[in-house]
Amino acid sequence: MSIRVLVNGAGRMGQLAATILREHPDFILVGMIKRDDDLAAEIKKNSAQIVIDFTQAEAVLNNTRIIIETGAHPIIGTSGLLQNQVKQLQIRCTELGLGGLIVPNFSLAAILMMKYAKHISSYFSQFEIIEAHHSRKLDSPSGTAIRTAEMLAETPKILPPQKKQHETIPHARGATHQHIPIHSIRLPGVLAQQQVIFGGEGETLTIQYNTIDQRCYVAGILLACQKVSQLNELVYGLEHLI
Ligand SMILES: NC(=O)c1ccc[n+]([C@@H]2O[C@H](COP(=O)([O-])OP(=O)(O)OC[C@H]3O[C@@H](n4cnc5c(N)ncnc54)[C@H](O)[C@@H]3O)[C@@H](O)[C@H]2O)c1
Repeated sequence: MSIRVLVNGAGRMGQLAATILREHPDFILVGMIKRDDDLAAEIKKNSAQIVIDFTQAEAVLNNTRIIIETGAHPIIGTSGLLQNQVKQLQIRCTELGLGGLIVPNFSLAAILMMKYAKHISSYFSQFEIIEAHHSRKLDSPSGTAIRTAEMLAETPKILPPQKKQHETIPHARGATHQHIPIHSIRLPGVLAQQQVIFGGEGETLTIQYNTIDQRCYVAGILLACQKVSQLNELVYGLEHLI
């Protein structure tokens, strides 16, 4: 039987998700929610089993809570959730035995970049993240950069940037998350890119992904829709499913 999926957010990513679901025989796209619609009412009215959220950072926490309380499986692609918020949402899903996914990046290249960057980080003690996105992106840094920093911060060897450094212009050294500097670039001509640069004695190592077409998200979105109802907790990162 086909699985009923609602898409929350009718922007670039929401429309991509809707197109994928319309073309796939395993899913029925039951609706696309816009900013002023009542999310809880639409989930119930359409008997949605899965809700994919591609909205914006200011709305994502509240949206995720609403989806969870209706009992639909959340797939959260929107960036902006902080680590403590993810933990709260995970606790609630575990209480309810509800499967869900928070996916900072659906692209295979980005997921592999995070996974191997984490592996490389155990050989270096200093590293920085540079991410670049199209100029229409509203939030900074990207969800992928935040997730990468959280994964790299688990390495025991990490050395935070030196406090003594003087910034002649404030923020010249970027923002820091979990002691890791993140530099965000917003430019036309770019879709999505990220580098992690590892620095050692007399050498650097750079790992980078580069997105040039939104089709890179298709396989990951489908995988998330296929797997989410088999989960009984809120999983953070698609790397756990591939
Ligand atoms: N996980 C990934 O792989 C991935 C990839 C690209 C973008 N993103 C993230 O997905 C989100 C959406 O990206 P986009 O490029 O589609 O942005 P977009 O600006 O094109 O679309 C966002 C849409 O959400 C709507 N919206 C805002 N608040 C809403 C609310 N409360 N309820 C319903 N709709 C609401 C806006 O009106 C807009 O139509 C961003 O946070 C972006 O960073 C994630």
